[in-house]
Amino acid sequence: MISQDTKQKILDATRIEDVIGEFVSLKKRGANHIGCCPFHNEKTPSFYVSPSKGIFKCFGCGESGDALSFLMKHEHYTYPEALRWLAQKYNIAIEEEQLSEEQQQRRDERDALFHVSEFAQKFFVESMNDTEMGRAVGLGYFHERGLTDEIIKRFGLGYSPDEWRAFTDYALKNGYSKEVLEKTGLTIVKEGDKMYDRFRGRVTFPIYSISGRVLGFSCRILSKEKQAAKYVNSPDSEIYNKSNILYGLFQAKNAISRTGKCYLVEGNLDVVSMHQSGVENTVASCGTSLTVEQVRLIRRYTPNVTIVYDSDGAGIKATQRAANILFQEGMKVRCVLFPDGDDPDSYAQRNGSTALQQYLEQHEENYILYKARITSEQIKHDPIRKAEFIQDIVNSIALVQDLLERSEYIQQCASLFGVAEQTLSSSVAKAIVKLKLTPPRQGEQPAGAATDTAVQQSDGLAPTVTPAAQQQMPELHPSEPQERHLIEILMRYGNEDIDWTYTNPAGVEVTQRLAVASVIVSTLHAAKLGFDNPTYQRIFDMSFEALNEGRIISPTQFASSDVPEIRDLAISNMVQPYEVSELWVTSKGIVTPGELQRLPLDVKDSLLHFMLKKVEAEIERNRQKLKEETDADEVSALVMRHTALIKKKQSIGKDLRMVISGL
Ligand code: CTP
Ligand code: MN
Repeated sequence: MISQDTKQKILDATRIEDVIGEFVSLKKRGANHIGCCPFHNEKTPSFYVSPSKGIFKCFGCGESGDALSFLMKHEHYTYPEALRWLAQKYNIAIEEEQLSEEQQQRRDERDALFHVSEFAQKFFVESMNDTEMGRAVGLGYFHERGLTDEIIKRFGLGYSPDEWRAFTDYALKNGYSKEVLEKTGLTIVKEGDKMYDRFRGRVTFPIYSISGRVLGFSCRILSKEKQAAKYVNSPDSEIYNKSNILYGLFQAKNAISRTGKCYLVEGNLDVVSMHQSGVENTVASCGTSLTVEQVRLIRRYTPNVTIVYDSDGAGIKATQRAANILFQEGMKVRCVLFPDGDDPDSYAQRNGSTALQQYLEQHEENYILYKARITSEQIKHDPIRKAEFIQDIVNSIALVQDLLERSEYIQQCASLFGVAEQTLSSSVAKAIVKLKLTPPRQGEQPAGAATDTAVQQSDGLAPTVTPAAQQQMPELHPSEPQERHLIEILMRYGNEDIDWTYTNPAGVEVTQRLAVASVIVSTLHAAKLGFDNPTYQRIFDMSFEALNEGRIISPTQFASSDVPEIRDLAISNMVQPYEVSELWVTSKGIVTPGELQRLPLDVKDSLLHFMLKKVEAEIERNRQKLKEETDADEVSALVMRHTALIKKKQSIGKDLRMVISGL
């Protein structure tokens, strides 16, 4: 663990504009730096970095945080990884905290396993490149399969000589113990003393952690021998657990983030081949069928997965299985089917990279719609079993977590199969209830039980640390920033007049000159929204009463309130104007013409952000209820409520985008 002292040193040295400047091109504007937000697509910059506060904020997508959270978000580092990155940048030596004897021992063991895996990786690459046999057999094999030297290098492919103990003897000579060799599985130990190389005579595919450390190997046979397994993989160990590792994720993660999509293929060579063809957002589950933990790894980068499995019977079954697990984890699932007998690798080798890319683009289908298509074919050929086929797709739709998406599928399938939407909808509701009553299948952990994932993939910088922000403000309500911002505007600008355009109950757009206080108070009152923070609610109530008496409370009146919390808030508002106005005009205390000009948009922006947050919270509460509800009628009522809320959220989002483009 990194010591508290070192952590402080790192944070003291960190200059946020330097850190973000490595990833985003920033221009200085006043006290701040601005650029195009790396977290959403935009052409005009709305991403602000404030060196004095050490924070960034995007006014387009709302993303914000400090240098550490930027690195965690942008580079997908864990907390300790981000600290180490900063330490390296600022040349700070890391002092580790004393570990207990047991922690130290565990740590030493893991380190030894990492070390010997790295050593083996070097050995396999050298055996392939620097020996005649290696070049002829190992490198020759990869060339024969159409791989370039560049891609062979990028994936660290190698060769394990076809001798009983070539690697084992070399490792022992270099001081690695028999125990460590056995624990990584690189060496098989029999009858106490007999040792031999597990991967002898195979080409080697190293399996990397997210940050690029070698965790294990997957090794392919060269001959066409029928008896021997085609692939031999590292056994699970302290550092390697096949169910929470994805082959290729290290090389694919940036492309997955960039493209917002992850291709999931079956084999190691499919991954390598896709990357060579320029489709770098590709991973495979390592010789296992897809697990919940693996899906959660993908979800760190994107919710969109396209399954590209073989199109044989086994492949189609595996696709269905994978799709179900992906749906359960709330992912959006698409699939691509190759012509019979092809996998991505064979298709690319025969037809070339461009053809592969085109094929993927042209044949991608939404999974449920693909399944609906298959189902309607089946019904055509076997009308007697119609109900059975429909039940099958109903079960898949029931797994879709996004309710809006789910109701769209219900609509589409209803018209495709010629059944009433209501009927299909209640079948889905029943299937959901049934799912809830069925305990998780064997081998699948219940939600939230992916205990080892983070440790595994963060290279053993255990224990995994929660992001600092989460640790510091445990009791804050999720909408605190939006509430605070709005209340600050109310207190600071309440008695300024602005031209306010709104749609009246008759649906007509009107513009009126109104005080900010009356805009905010009447909008929230009409929407029946309040504050979770009691102090803010109190300020709101005071303003409401004052308005009813035809008054507006001025900033100085707030500052002399007999409620200490309100007084403090008012004073700190006056001393330190709220974030947005500072980013715009850097005024201190006095309302400047620039601020006034921006005020209408700013009021609208804060109101919309506030309402968006409240609707999101309501959606979440509704979702929770839906999870627990078992009555089919209640479920459909909740689903309808959800659809209404989503519509509301979308319309707020649309207004917000208009406001932001006006800023
Ligand atoms: N696999 C495995 N053990 C085996 C066979 C397969 O672990 N005995 C895993 C490997 O990760 C392999 C994947 O399952 O990459 C898919 O297997 P398969 O489709 O048989 O192989 P391909 O990847 O197509 O390999 P190749 O093209 O080299 O034949
Ligand atoms: Mn293949």
